[in-house]
Amino acid sequence: MESIRTLFPLEEGRIDARKENILKSPKKNGSCEVDSAPYLEELGVEILENEQPIQFTPNINEHIHRWAPYVQGFSAIFVQNIFNKYKKEYDNPTVLDPFAGCGTVLVQSKLNGYKSIGTELNPLLRFIADTKLNCWDISTTHLLKTCKSLRKDRMSPAPAFLKSSNQFNENVMQNLKRIKGGLQALSEKTEKQKKIKDLLKLAFSAILVDCSNLKRSPCLGYVKNKVVNGSAPFVLFDRKVNEIAEDIKLIQAEYGDFIDVEGKVILTNAMTFRHKNKFDLVITSPPYMNGLDYVMNYKIEMVWLEFVNNQKELKQIKDDMVVCDNVSKGLIANFEKDTSTYTNNWLESIKADIKTNIVRRGAYRRTDMPYIVQKYFDDMFQVMKNIVISLNKGGRFILVVGDSLIADVYVPTDLLLAKIGQDLGLEIEKIEKARDRRSGQIRSYKLRESIITLIKR
Ligand SMILES: C[S@@+](CC[C@H](N)C(=O)[O-])C[C@H]1O[C@@H](n2cnc3c(N)ncnc32)[C@H](O)[C@@H]1O
Repeated sequence: MESIRTLFPLEEGRIDARKENILKSPKKNGSCEVDSAPYLEELGVEILENEQPIQFTPNINEHIHRWAPYVQGFSAIFVQNIFNKYKKEYDNPTVLDPFAGCGTVLVQSKLNGYKSIGTELNPLLRFIADTKLNCWDISTTHLLKTCKSLRKDRMSPAPAFLKSSNQFNENVMQNLKRIKGGLQALSEKTEKQKKIKDLLKLAFSAILVDCSNLKRSPCLGYVKNKVVNGSAPFVLFDRKVNEIAEDIKLIQAEYGDFIDVEGKVILTNAMTFRHKNKFDLVITSPPYMNGLDYVMNYKIEMVWLEFVNNQKELKQIKDDMVVCDNVSKGLIANFEKDTSTYTNNWLESIKADIKTNIVRRGAYRRTDMPYIVQKYFDDMFQVMKNIVISLNKGGRFILVVGDSLIADVYVPTDLLLAKIGQDLGLEIEKIEKARDRRSGQIRSYKLRESIITLIKR
């Protein structure tokens, strides 16, 4: 029988080489515990166990936090536990989250009456975080009335440069265009009108993926056989607005004293932004090196809400972020020519080992991985330098991050960031293991997610 012809014989060969490398990997059944031992010894610290939940998922049941269904980051309970722990040490702390995302740290700060500031490069996430922080004083009757009377006769076109007709079925799309048209017709002349409009826009952004043929888990991808009823946009939009109104009512009844506490998110780059304020607590979860794409995962909402209008703008936002392993090749090629600003002996030997292993393996997903690793720590060094400058004496910098296995080389991201903190003059107070993870490359290799606590003496 004639063999089946493949259109991409080279690709098939590449996949075989990849599988073979996984099978032969010296890291099979290995673990970060063994591989991080020499680094820990040099740092003179040990990893403590931590039992508290840090996943984002519990936020879906938390008031305000539940408004936007994003899966990255940590839970509000995790942030609250930190506040409880340091209650006696800081009287009314000022809090910073340099990678604010959809605002978990900042919203929780405000619920405690603490002033907070965040920086965030994704304009959609900044908008969501800012709306969650600054609309506590609106009239819920007005919100519900505006939602009910939203004009349905004006359709606003679906974004032209997305594959909208694949993403939504025809009836759903017509109704989404109606909601978008209705939102655009709303006035925002007064501050009150603007807040109501922002809350409705947030509700619209929160239902888009549920109305689509996609799912975010945590990456955005098509789901086979997902059936979405044509009426879903109006049903889900209504439900979301009611949920928001319910939470605002509760906030006004129980957290009335904190409505005017300052909480804001600045659309800016944490690598370059210099804060005028000083902070007592910096709590954050930076992008992970093998992390999520914080632009492409939110492109549907970003484009429907007109925060970006074309592919070039999306790419620009992504290129400005702390790099991860899906960064554009061009950006890394330019970086190779640059002189990097931070290095240390660990990083140099990790990069050299990755380079050697990529040559030995003959194939790897990205051959520019050593430069990506260098740029990740370079970018984080810039962010941490700014944090150290704006941290008060006695202030703490707490970050949650995961480590990586790259081309059979263990990268102790947590310990490297702790070391950068040390180089910048902070003291490592403790490093706790938040949970075990598995390497995406070699499933039998155990990685971890850590909570690093640094203190400025
Ligand atoms: C792990 S997420 C933080 C999630 C957040 N803790 C939450 O609960 O929503 C990292 C965030 O950093 C943002 N980011 C990446 N690079 C940035 C930079 N250079 N400046 C500011 N924000 C950045 C991403 O857009 C993303 O929202």
